[in-house]
Amino acid sequence: MSSFEKNIPVIHGFSKLNRRQKIELLKELTKIDKNLQETLDSWLPKSRDEQDTFEGFIENYITNYHLPLGVVPNMVINGKSYTVPMVTEESSVIAAASRAAKFWAEHGGFQVKIGGTEKKGQIHFTWDGDKNLLINHFNTLRKRMILATEPVTQKMRERGGGIMAVRLKDKTSLLPSYFQIDVSFETADAMGANFINTCLETMAQVLKNSAGDLVPDGNIEVIMSILSNYTPDSLAECTVECGIEHLSKWSGELTPQAFARKFELANRIAQTDISRAVTHNKGIYNGVDALILATGNDWRAVEACGHAYASASGSYRALTETEISDRQFRYRLKIPLALGTVGGLTNTHPLARLALQILGNPGAKELMMIAAAAGMANNFSAISALITSGIQKGHMKMHLPNILKQLRATKAEAEVVVNYFEKKEISYAAVKNFLTRLRIENGK
Ligand code: MEV
Repeated sequence: MSSFEKNIPVIHGFSKLNRRQKIELLKELTKIDKNLQETLDSWLPKSRDEQDTFEGFIENYITNYHLPLGVVPNMVINGKSYTVPMVTEESSVIAAASRAAKFWAEHGGFQVKIGGTEKKGQIHFTWDGDKNLLINHFNTLRKRMILATEPVTQKMRERGGGIMAVRLKDKTSLLPSYFQIDVSFETADAMGANFINTCLETMAQVLKNSAGDLVPDGNIEVIMSILSNYTPDSLAECTVECGIEHLSKWSGELTPQAFARKFELANRIAQTDISRAVTHNKGIYNGVDALILATGNDWRAVEACGHAYASASGSYRALTETEISDRQFRYRLKIPLALGTVGGLTNTHPLARLALQILGNPGAKELMMIAAAAGMANNFSAISALITSGIQKGHMKMHLPNILKQLRATKAEAEVVVNYFEKKEISYAAVKNFLTRLRIENGK
């Protein structure tokens, strides 16, 4: 039965209400108790100015949702040391990245190369006439389209960016009458989404308007004009390398050689098995996303692209490769990262601005390098733990404060619990049992 048939009331004009009115209505809709307003208010930024900033980011703003911001020191990339800000809710992410960053800082650091920063967008359209007519007139059309974008691209061209190529693509083998105008952009230090979309919409208008006089024997219908988040040519390649004997810091009860062999095999499993590959890559994005979020970039775009890139061979694979010889261990991550350090939230969100300051105000390429290294740091730690002690030991240790919070442990109780579990296996049930016994002993 549809909502229409069920007579479900539809709210009109919600976005027009002021914040207080929205919260009143929310109370009615959710039946959440009378403290709703106070709770939401208590998470607002202190100054009115900052509230206005956050309110300006989205529609129907009611408060700020907080996540922890932490830092990873000792991230040495191409010989420069960074302290990397990360925003994450997962307790072990920053600890894992810090451990790997420190180790690699003492073993040559992360070497990162940027393969390119090209971004693309497409005008998707149909043409029902003779395709040769379109092809023959495309040069004239391209000139007209580029000319029309000049006022939009002027500033970007001054910064070394702009439209780099405009190509006509025949896609009729995929869909009848389907063509694309595929446009390549360089956007300097900006992520450039608005810039690209404005250029594409301007060009699409020219395509519509010119079609009649340039190629009169057919119809052009523009379906849509939009950037593509698939940016395989905005690529970072991050490598770490050391003598196998140095891996003894990670190898636990294994010999460093056995550790390296197991690591390589774990990586190969993630290159062949989709169930493992997705989790392997998720561990990379633990670091990448946490940095991207801290710096006000678009993590959905980066993730979507990364997973598509991981499938480029036709099956989904790990983004990393391991090479081991008798004595040497080398680990490489190739990851597409379309990032910006100007425009969007990077300048308007006060903590994104601060995060970029902590990094020394990098340009977009430098931020790509840092993100790649952050991804590798998290993934290296994860694989090392998985093939030795397992992931839960470290993870649960980091998670213990959350369990104690859930069980409403006092400070004194927490101290006893932490001491008791120092060398024991931690689980929610074990902690709960221990705490219950402790409370009984203490007569509570
Ligand atoms: C947890 O957030 C990430 C890991 O599952 C990654 C991995 O399995 O490689 C530990």
